[in-house]
Amino acid sequence: MDAIEALRGRRSVRAYESGNAIPRDILETIVDCGRLAATARNIQPWEFIVVTKPETLKRIADITEHGKHIAQSAACIAVVCEQGRYYVEDGAAATQNILVAAWALGIGACWVAGDKKAYADQLRDLLDAPDSHKLVSLIPLGYPERVPEPNKRPLDDVLHWEQY
Ligand SMILES: Cc1cc2nc3c(=O)[nH]c(=O)nc-3n(C[C@H](O)[C@H](O)[C@H](O)COP(=O)(O)O)c2cc1C
Repeated sequence: MDAIEALRGRRSVRAYESGNAIPRDILETIVDCGRLAATARNIQPWEFIVVTKPETLKRIADITEHGKHIAQSAACIAVVCEQGRYYVEDGAAATQNILVAAWALGIGACWVAGDKKAYADQLRDLLDAPDSHKLVSLIPLGYPERVPEPNKRPLDDVLHWEQY
């Protein structure tokens, strides 16, 4: 799948095939695409924590507000970034890379909010990440059971040439 196809086709997947583990090398490829994202001043403030143990996935899911599907995922990547001026933007760029890379590899994923949520520091502590870091996002992954089709604003609505 080429990049344009992956970017156009990607959707947030919240229902995963049960019992279908994602091979370790595939998870490594996905994280590798995350760590190559654009980053302000090339600081690369991120660390990626890959959780595959079902009991930990359930604990994470229980703490989130809209991430209960994490409990059914095959793996969940937590993107944590050292605090600094652009840590949210940097972590968001890495998160989007991960979503698209997963989709290109036939794996469904969903961005679950981390930063700005009251539970973010609790999850950071659960995952043993240092206090100097912030949880930017959680990304549950799994082979898709169902792919939603959310409404998307048409290109004509959002594209402006030269002026708004
Ligand atoms: C910053 C951010 C936070 C999000 N948080 C959640 C979340 O907590 N739970 C969830 O199920 N989806 C979450 N999403 C996914 C959005 O709901 C999803 O991207 C949106 O509905 C558009 O659908 P699409 O990703 O299929 O294009 C989040 C997305 C972003 C960018």
